[in-house]
Amino acid sequence: MGRDSPDRCLIMVPGPTNVPSRVLRAMMKPMISHRGPEFRTLYRGILENLRYLFQTEGEVFVLTASGTGGVECAVSNLVNPGDKVLIPVFGLFSERMREKIARRGGVPVEVKLDYGEAPTADQIERMLELEKDVKVIAIVYNETSTGVTVRDLPEIGRIAKERGILLLVDAVSILGGDKLPVDEWNVDVCVAGSQKCLACPPGLSLISVSERAWRRIERTERPFYYDLVAMKSFRERWETPFTPAIPLFYALDEALKIIREEGLEKRFERHRVCSEAFYRAVEALGLEVFPRRGVRSNTVIAFKKPAGVDGAEVRRLMRERYKVVIAGGAGKVRDLIFRIGCMGAVSSPDVIRTVSALENALADVGYPVEAGAGVEAAKSVLF
Ligand SMILES: Cc1ncc(COP(=O)(O)O)c(C=O)c1O
Repeated sequence: MGRDSPDRCLIMVPGPTNVPSRVLRAMMKPMISHRGPEFRTLYRGILENLRYLFQTEGEVFVLTASGTGGVECAVSNLVNPGDKVLIPVFGLFSERMREKIARRGGVPVEVKLDYGEAPTADQIERMLELEKDVKVIAIVYNETSTGVTVRDLPEIGRIAKERGILLLVDAVSILGGDKLPVDEWNVDVCVAGSQKCLACPPGLSLISVSERAWRRIERTERPFYYDLVAMKSFRERWETPFTPAIPLFYALDEALKIIREEGLEKRFERHRVCSEAFYRAVEALGLEVFPRRGVRSNTVIAFKKPAGVDGAEVRRLMRERYKVVIAGGAGKVRDLIFRIGCMGAVSSPDVIRTVSALENALADVGYPVEAGAGVEAAKSVLF
């Protein structure tokens, strides 16, 4: 069932997101050999468009792995056992990154923050004064579990570069939905996921690697499957070391063409406007946005579940009665918040339909909402 089917639910979770029919249809092409000319042409076109997406002159790769695999690949190519890695921890995905670093044998140096907060450049700088010999700073740019974006990332990149420290960024839930020029911001290794702001099905991760990062990666004891040096040498002939998920590569190729047709700036602005409409609507319904204003994400909208309301029941009603799927919380704030994905193909009608479903479901469980207040607030931003 494509995006256009009438009784299909609108998927407004923070990934996977709604996939345009054009992208779904691309997956129906016949299989090809991954060692033949058709695949080389396909991979070459994908990598060209990925450079545009990451805004980089550096190397880019596609991994047949979900976002977690992409982050694991980045960590295990940059971190050797015993290396200190500075990692702000402010939600489930930064906790997972810390865990990956620890399992790799690295030494995570944590900057611990409350859920709903984002690390600042000052905090990073202070920590680097205390902890000598940090090799890598690892940051989740968009903490999907709390709806928080690290707005100081450009400044953190400058600090990392000045000190000769590599910057690893998990941009799984934001690349393609908000600004992230990796070369300009000195991001050395950046990881994104296919199923979020790219409006592509799940199953691929995308990774960019700076010139600086190679010098370290070449000296690291790398894993077999996730060996970036092997990926680079196969890339020279537009191939991957192992069998790629060819139908997903077709889908990614199409999704990236759509991104180029729209243009990055317009795409970021569409995400910003839709997120602003969501925030205004949530506030007009008397609900509280979870993160403070300066760090709110344009791709994940997190807001508190009102006291006394059964969150699971609200989401059930939204899904079954109004055909819109949103997410609850994750990690420590699992039962405290709702989350809406504002990603990929998100549009004004999607926002209106989601806000309307939320308003109605809240009213159905007896929560006092002023009928139409959320939709009106969203419309005032969108139209
Ligand atoms: C910030 C972040 N990192 C990593 C992941 C893991 O991605 P996946 O579930 O595709 O493995 C996610 C998934 O939501 C994420 O939001």
